[in-house]
Amino acid sequence: MKKSSFITFIFDLDGVITETSEYHYKAWKIVCDKIGYNLTRKKNEELKGVNRKQCIELIMQWSNIQLSENEINIYLEEKNNIYNGFIKNLNQNDVCEGVLNFINEALKKNIKIALYSASRNAKKILCQLNIIDLFTVIIDGNNVSNSKPDPEGFKIAADLTKTNTENCVVFEDSFYGIEGANKLNMYTVGIGSKDVLNNANVVYKGFENLKIKDIINV
Ligand code: BG6
Ligand code: MG
Repeated sequence: MKKSSFITFIFDLDGVITETSEYHYKAWKIVCDKIGYNLTRKKNEELKGVNRKQCIELIMQWSNIQLSENEINIYLEEKNNIYNGFIKNLNQNDVCEGVLNFINEALKKNIKIALYSASRNAKKILCQLNIIDLFTVIIDGNNVSNSKPDPEGFKIAADLTKTNTENCVVFEDSFYGIEGANKLNMYTVGIGSKDVLNNANVVYKGFENLKIKDIINV
């Protein structure tokens, strides 16, 4: 548990605020089948928090298949098109259980709310979910040069909210996201399974029964 002073909560999007991580997996699975690689759910954990281009680089490495720059671009576009097909009807009912209450309680306690997602689709999704106005700062895949586990996006979020990194609490469903935030001594809250997120300060299954006082002393 963190001591409260001046706090910012930094949320990941896919797999934390909404279950779009499942759509990323399904879209990559279709593309990987075409490439000739069997993408398992276990291996997919290593694609979470990783940007689009680096995902295909990892897939080439795992499958030992070398694609040309042209093929890479075609597969990346195809993956994004499939993904966009899955999310086209996403709406406010797709916000994960408990997230809205949790954010609104935090806002009442003057905690700043920021978002850092590796996804270049993040702002569109926040608009579809009708929650974009809750965030003081939004950092997405378009604003960073280095993907998680690099801490770049977390540092930008801390700077823009004028918060010391030790006073940031990060909510993440990916091992690499937690790793990035840990590098800045942020307090890390894993959302998902303790087996996968064994590098987080604390892990919860979701926000359903989570209270602000479980995370910080307020
Ligand atoms: C992250 C997901 O949020 O965004 C990754 O965890 C995904 O799995 C990454 O690869 C990039 O997303 P997009 O929408 O820019 O292809
Ligand atoms: Mg995520």
